[in-house]
Amino acid sequence: MMRTQVGIIGAGPAGLLLAHLLHLAGVDSVVIEARSRGYIEGRVRAGLLEQGSVDTLAEAGLAARLRREGLSHDGLELRFDGMSHRIDLHGLTGRRVTIYGQQEVVKDMVAARLETGRPLYFEVEDTAVHDVATAHPRITWTQEGTRQELHCDVVAGCDGFHGVSRGAIPAEVLRVYERIYPFAWLGILAQARPISHELIYARHSDGFALATMRSQTISRLYLQCAPEEDLSAWSDTRIWDALQTRLGAVNEGQILQKGVTGMRSFVAEPMRHGRLFLAGDAAHIVPPTGAKGMNLAIADVRVLARALTAFFRGEGEALMDRYSETCLSRIWKVQRFSSWMTAMLHRFDDNDPFEHRVQLAELDYVVHSQAARTALAEQYVGLPYES
Ligand code: PHB
Repeated sequence: MMRTQVGIIGAGPAGLLLAHLLHLAGVDSVVIEARSRGYIEGRVRAGLLEQGSVDTLAEAGLAARLRREGLSHDGLELRFDGMSHRIDLHGLTGRRVTIYGQQEVVKDMVAARLETGRPLYFEVEDTAVHDVATAHPRITWTQEGTRQELHCDVVAGCDGFHGVSRGAIPAEVLRVYERIYPFAWLGILAQARPISHELIYARHSDGFALATMRSQTISRLYLQCAPEEDLSAWSDTRIWDALQTRLGAVNEGQILQKGVTGMRSFVAEPMRHGRLFLAGDAAHIVPPTGAKGMNLAIADVRVLARALTAFFRGEGEALMDRYSETCLSRIWKVQRFSSWMTAMLHRFDDNDPFEHRVQLAELDYVVHSQAARTALAEQYVGLPYES
């Protein structure tokens, strides 16, 4: 039997950042993760950080490599009808975004955790959460054939959309809101120079495409595809041809990694039940068009770390009581932005011609109205934190 103040399920950006912020506040935690260290550090995900996310990581002392290797972006490009339009994010908002792969963020956080000497266990199996409605919740799991039991004051469910934590909230309490999109993204990482130093979001009659990057020599490219797309139907040649068609011109190179990402919008409310707190993908999913997944996880954890720190300092549960509401007010605005960006830029097969013309008018309005560009920009660089 082990004991800690906060039992953290999941070593993604949410769980690891929470563990680190708690460590800085002198709060003890144990982090458990179902996958191996190699798996979580190698998993290719999105890689765009809002300025507020970068500041949060910097304040936590987690941004040394991010500051050296991250690519700072002042704008982005929207491409449709064969024309390119730049959105001057920095000119419109005074803020910027940074490209830095999620797995790099995870590597930096794992290194920081190990440095603290506090526990982080990989490849745990059969994780279960118990007694969250009491003041003595527990987490159990099996590791290398041995049953483990962790007694906690608080459990943080940071175990992603498919994790077990959300299931510990009784069905009669949990409300779920969901939308599944009729398409997915096929993403590649390629040994090729990015076509532009900024991101290009393209709407084409064949479907959406996005040109982003990981460095001056590595491109990250995405294509709208069918929801259950069979990767074997996409030869390298077919992928490059589709990218050339939709983006105009791309630099080709060796494809290092390919994958299909499903698209959904999902919110589970409330994000707290008793002594269980959900953070990140365990509570919400956004489609990747707005690049908000990791940023929302970081925003949740800022709020949660403060609330738990206050609690362990004996300042009571007021911030814990407000956790769900505080996070959800940001989450729903980001859901709105992500579904709006998705609707504006994708091809919908069942689009009626009216909807199609409205979609084109929307793009035309966004690039020609300073008010509309500002609205896009202020959400893209990240809404201000509540506190
Ligand atoms: C990425 O760099 O992987 C990325 C960037 C922006 C998005 C989605 C993904 O909207």
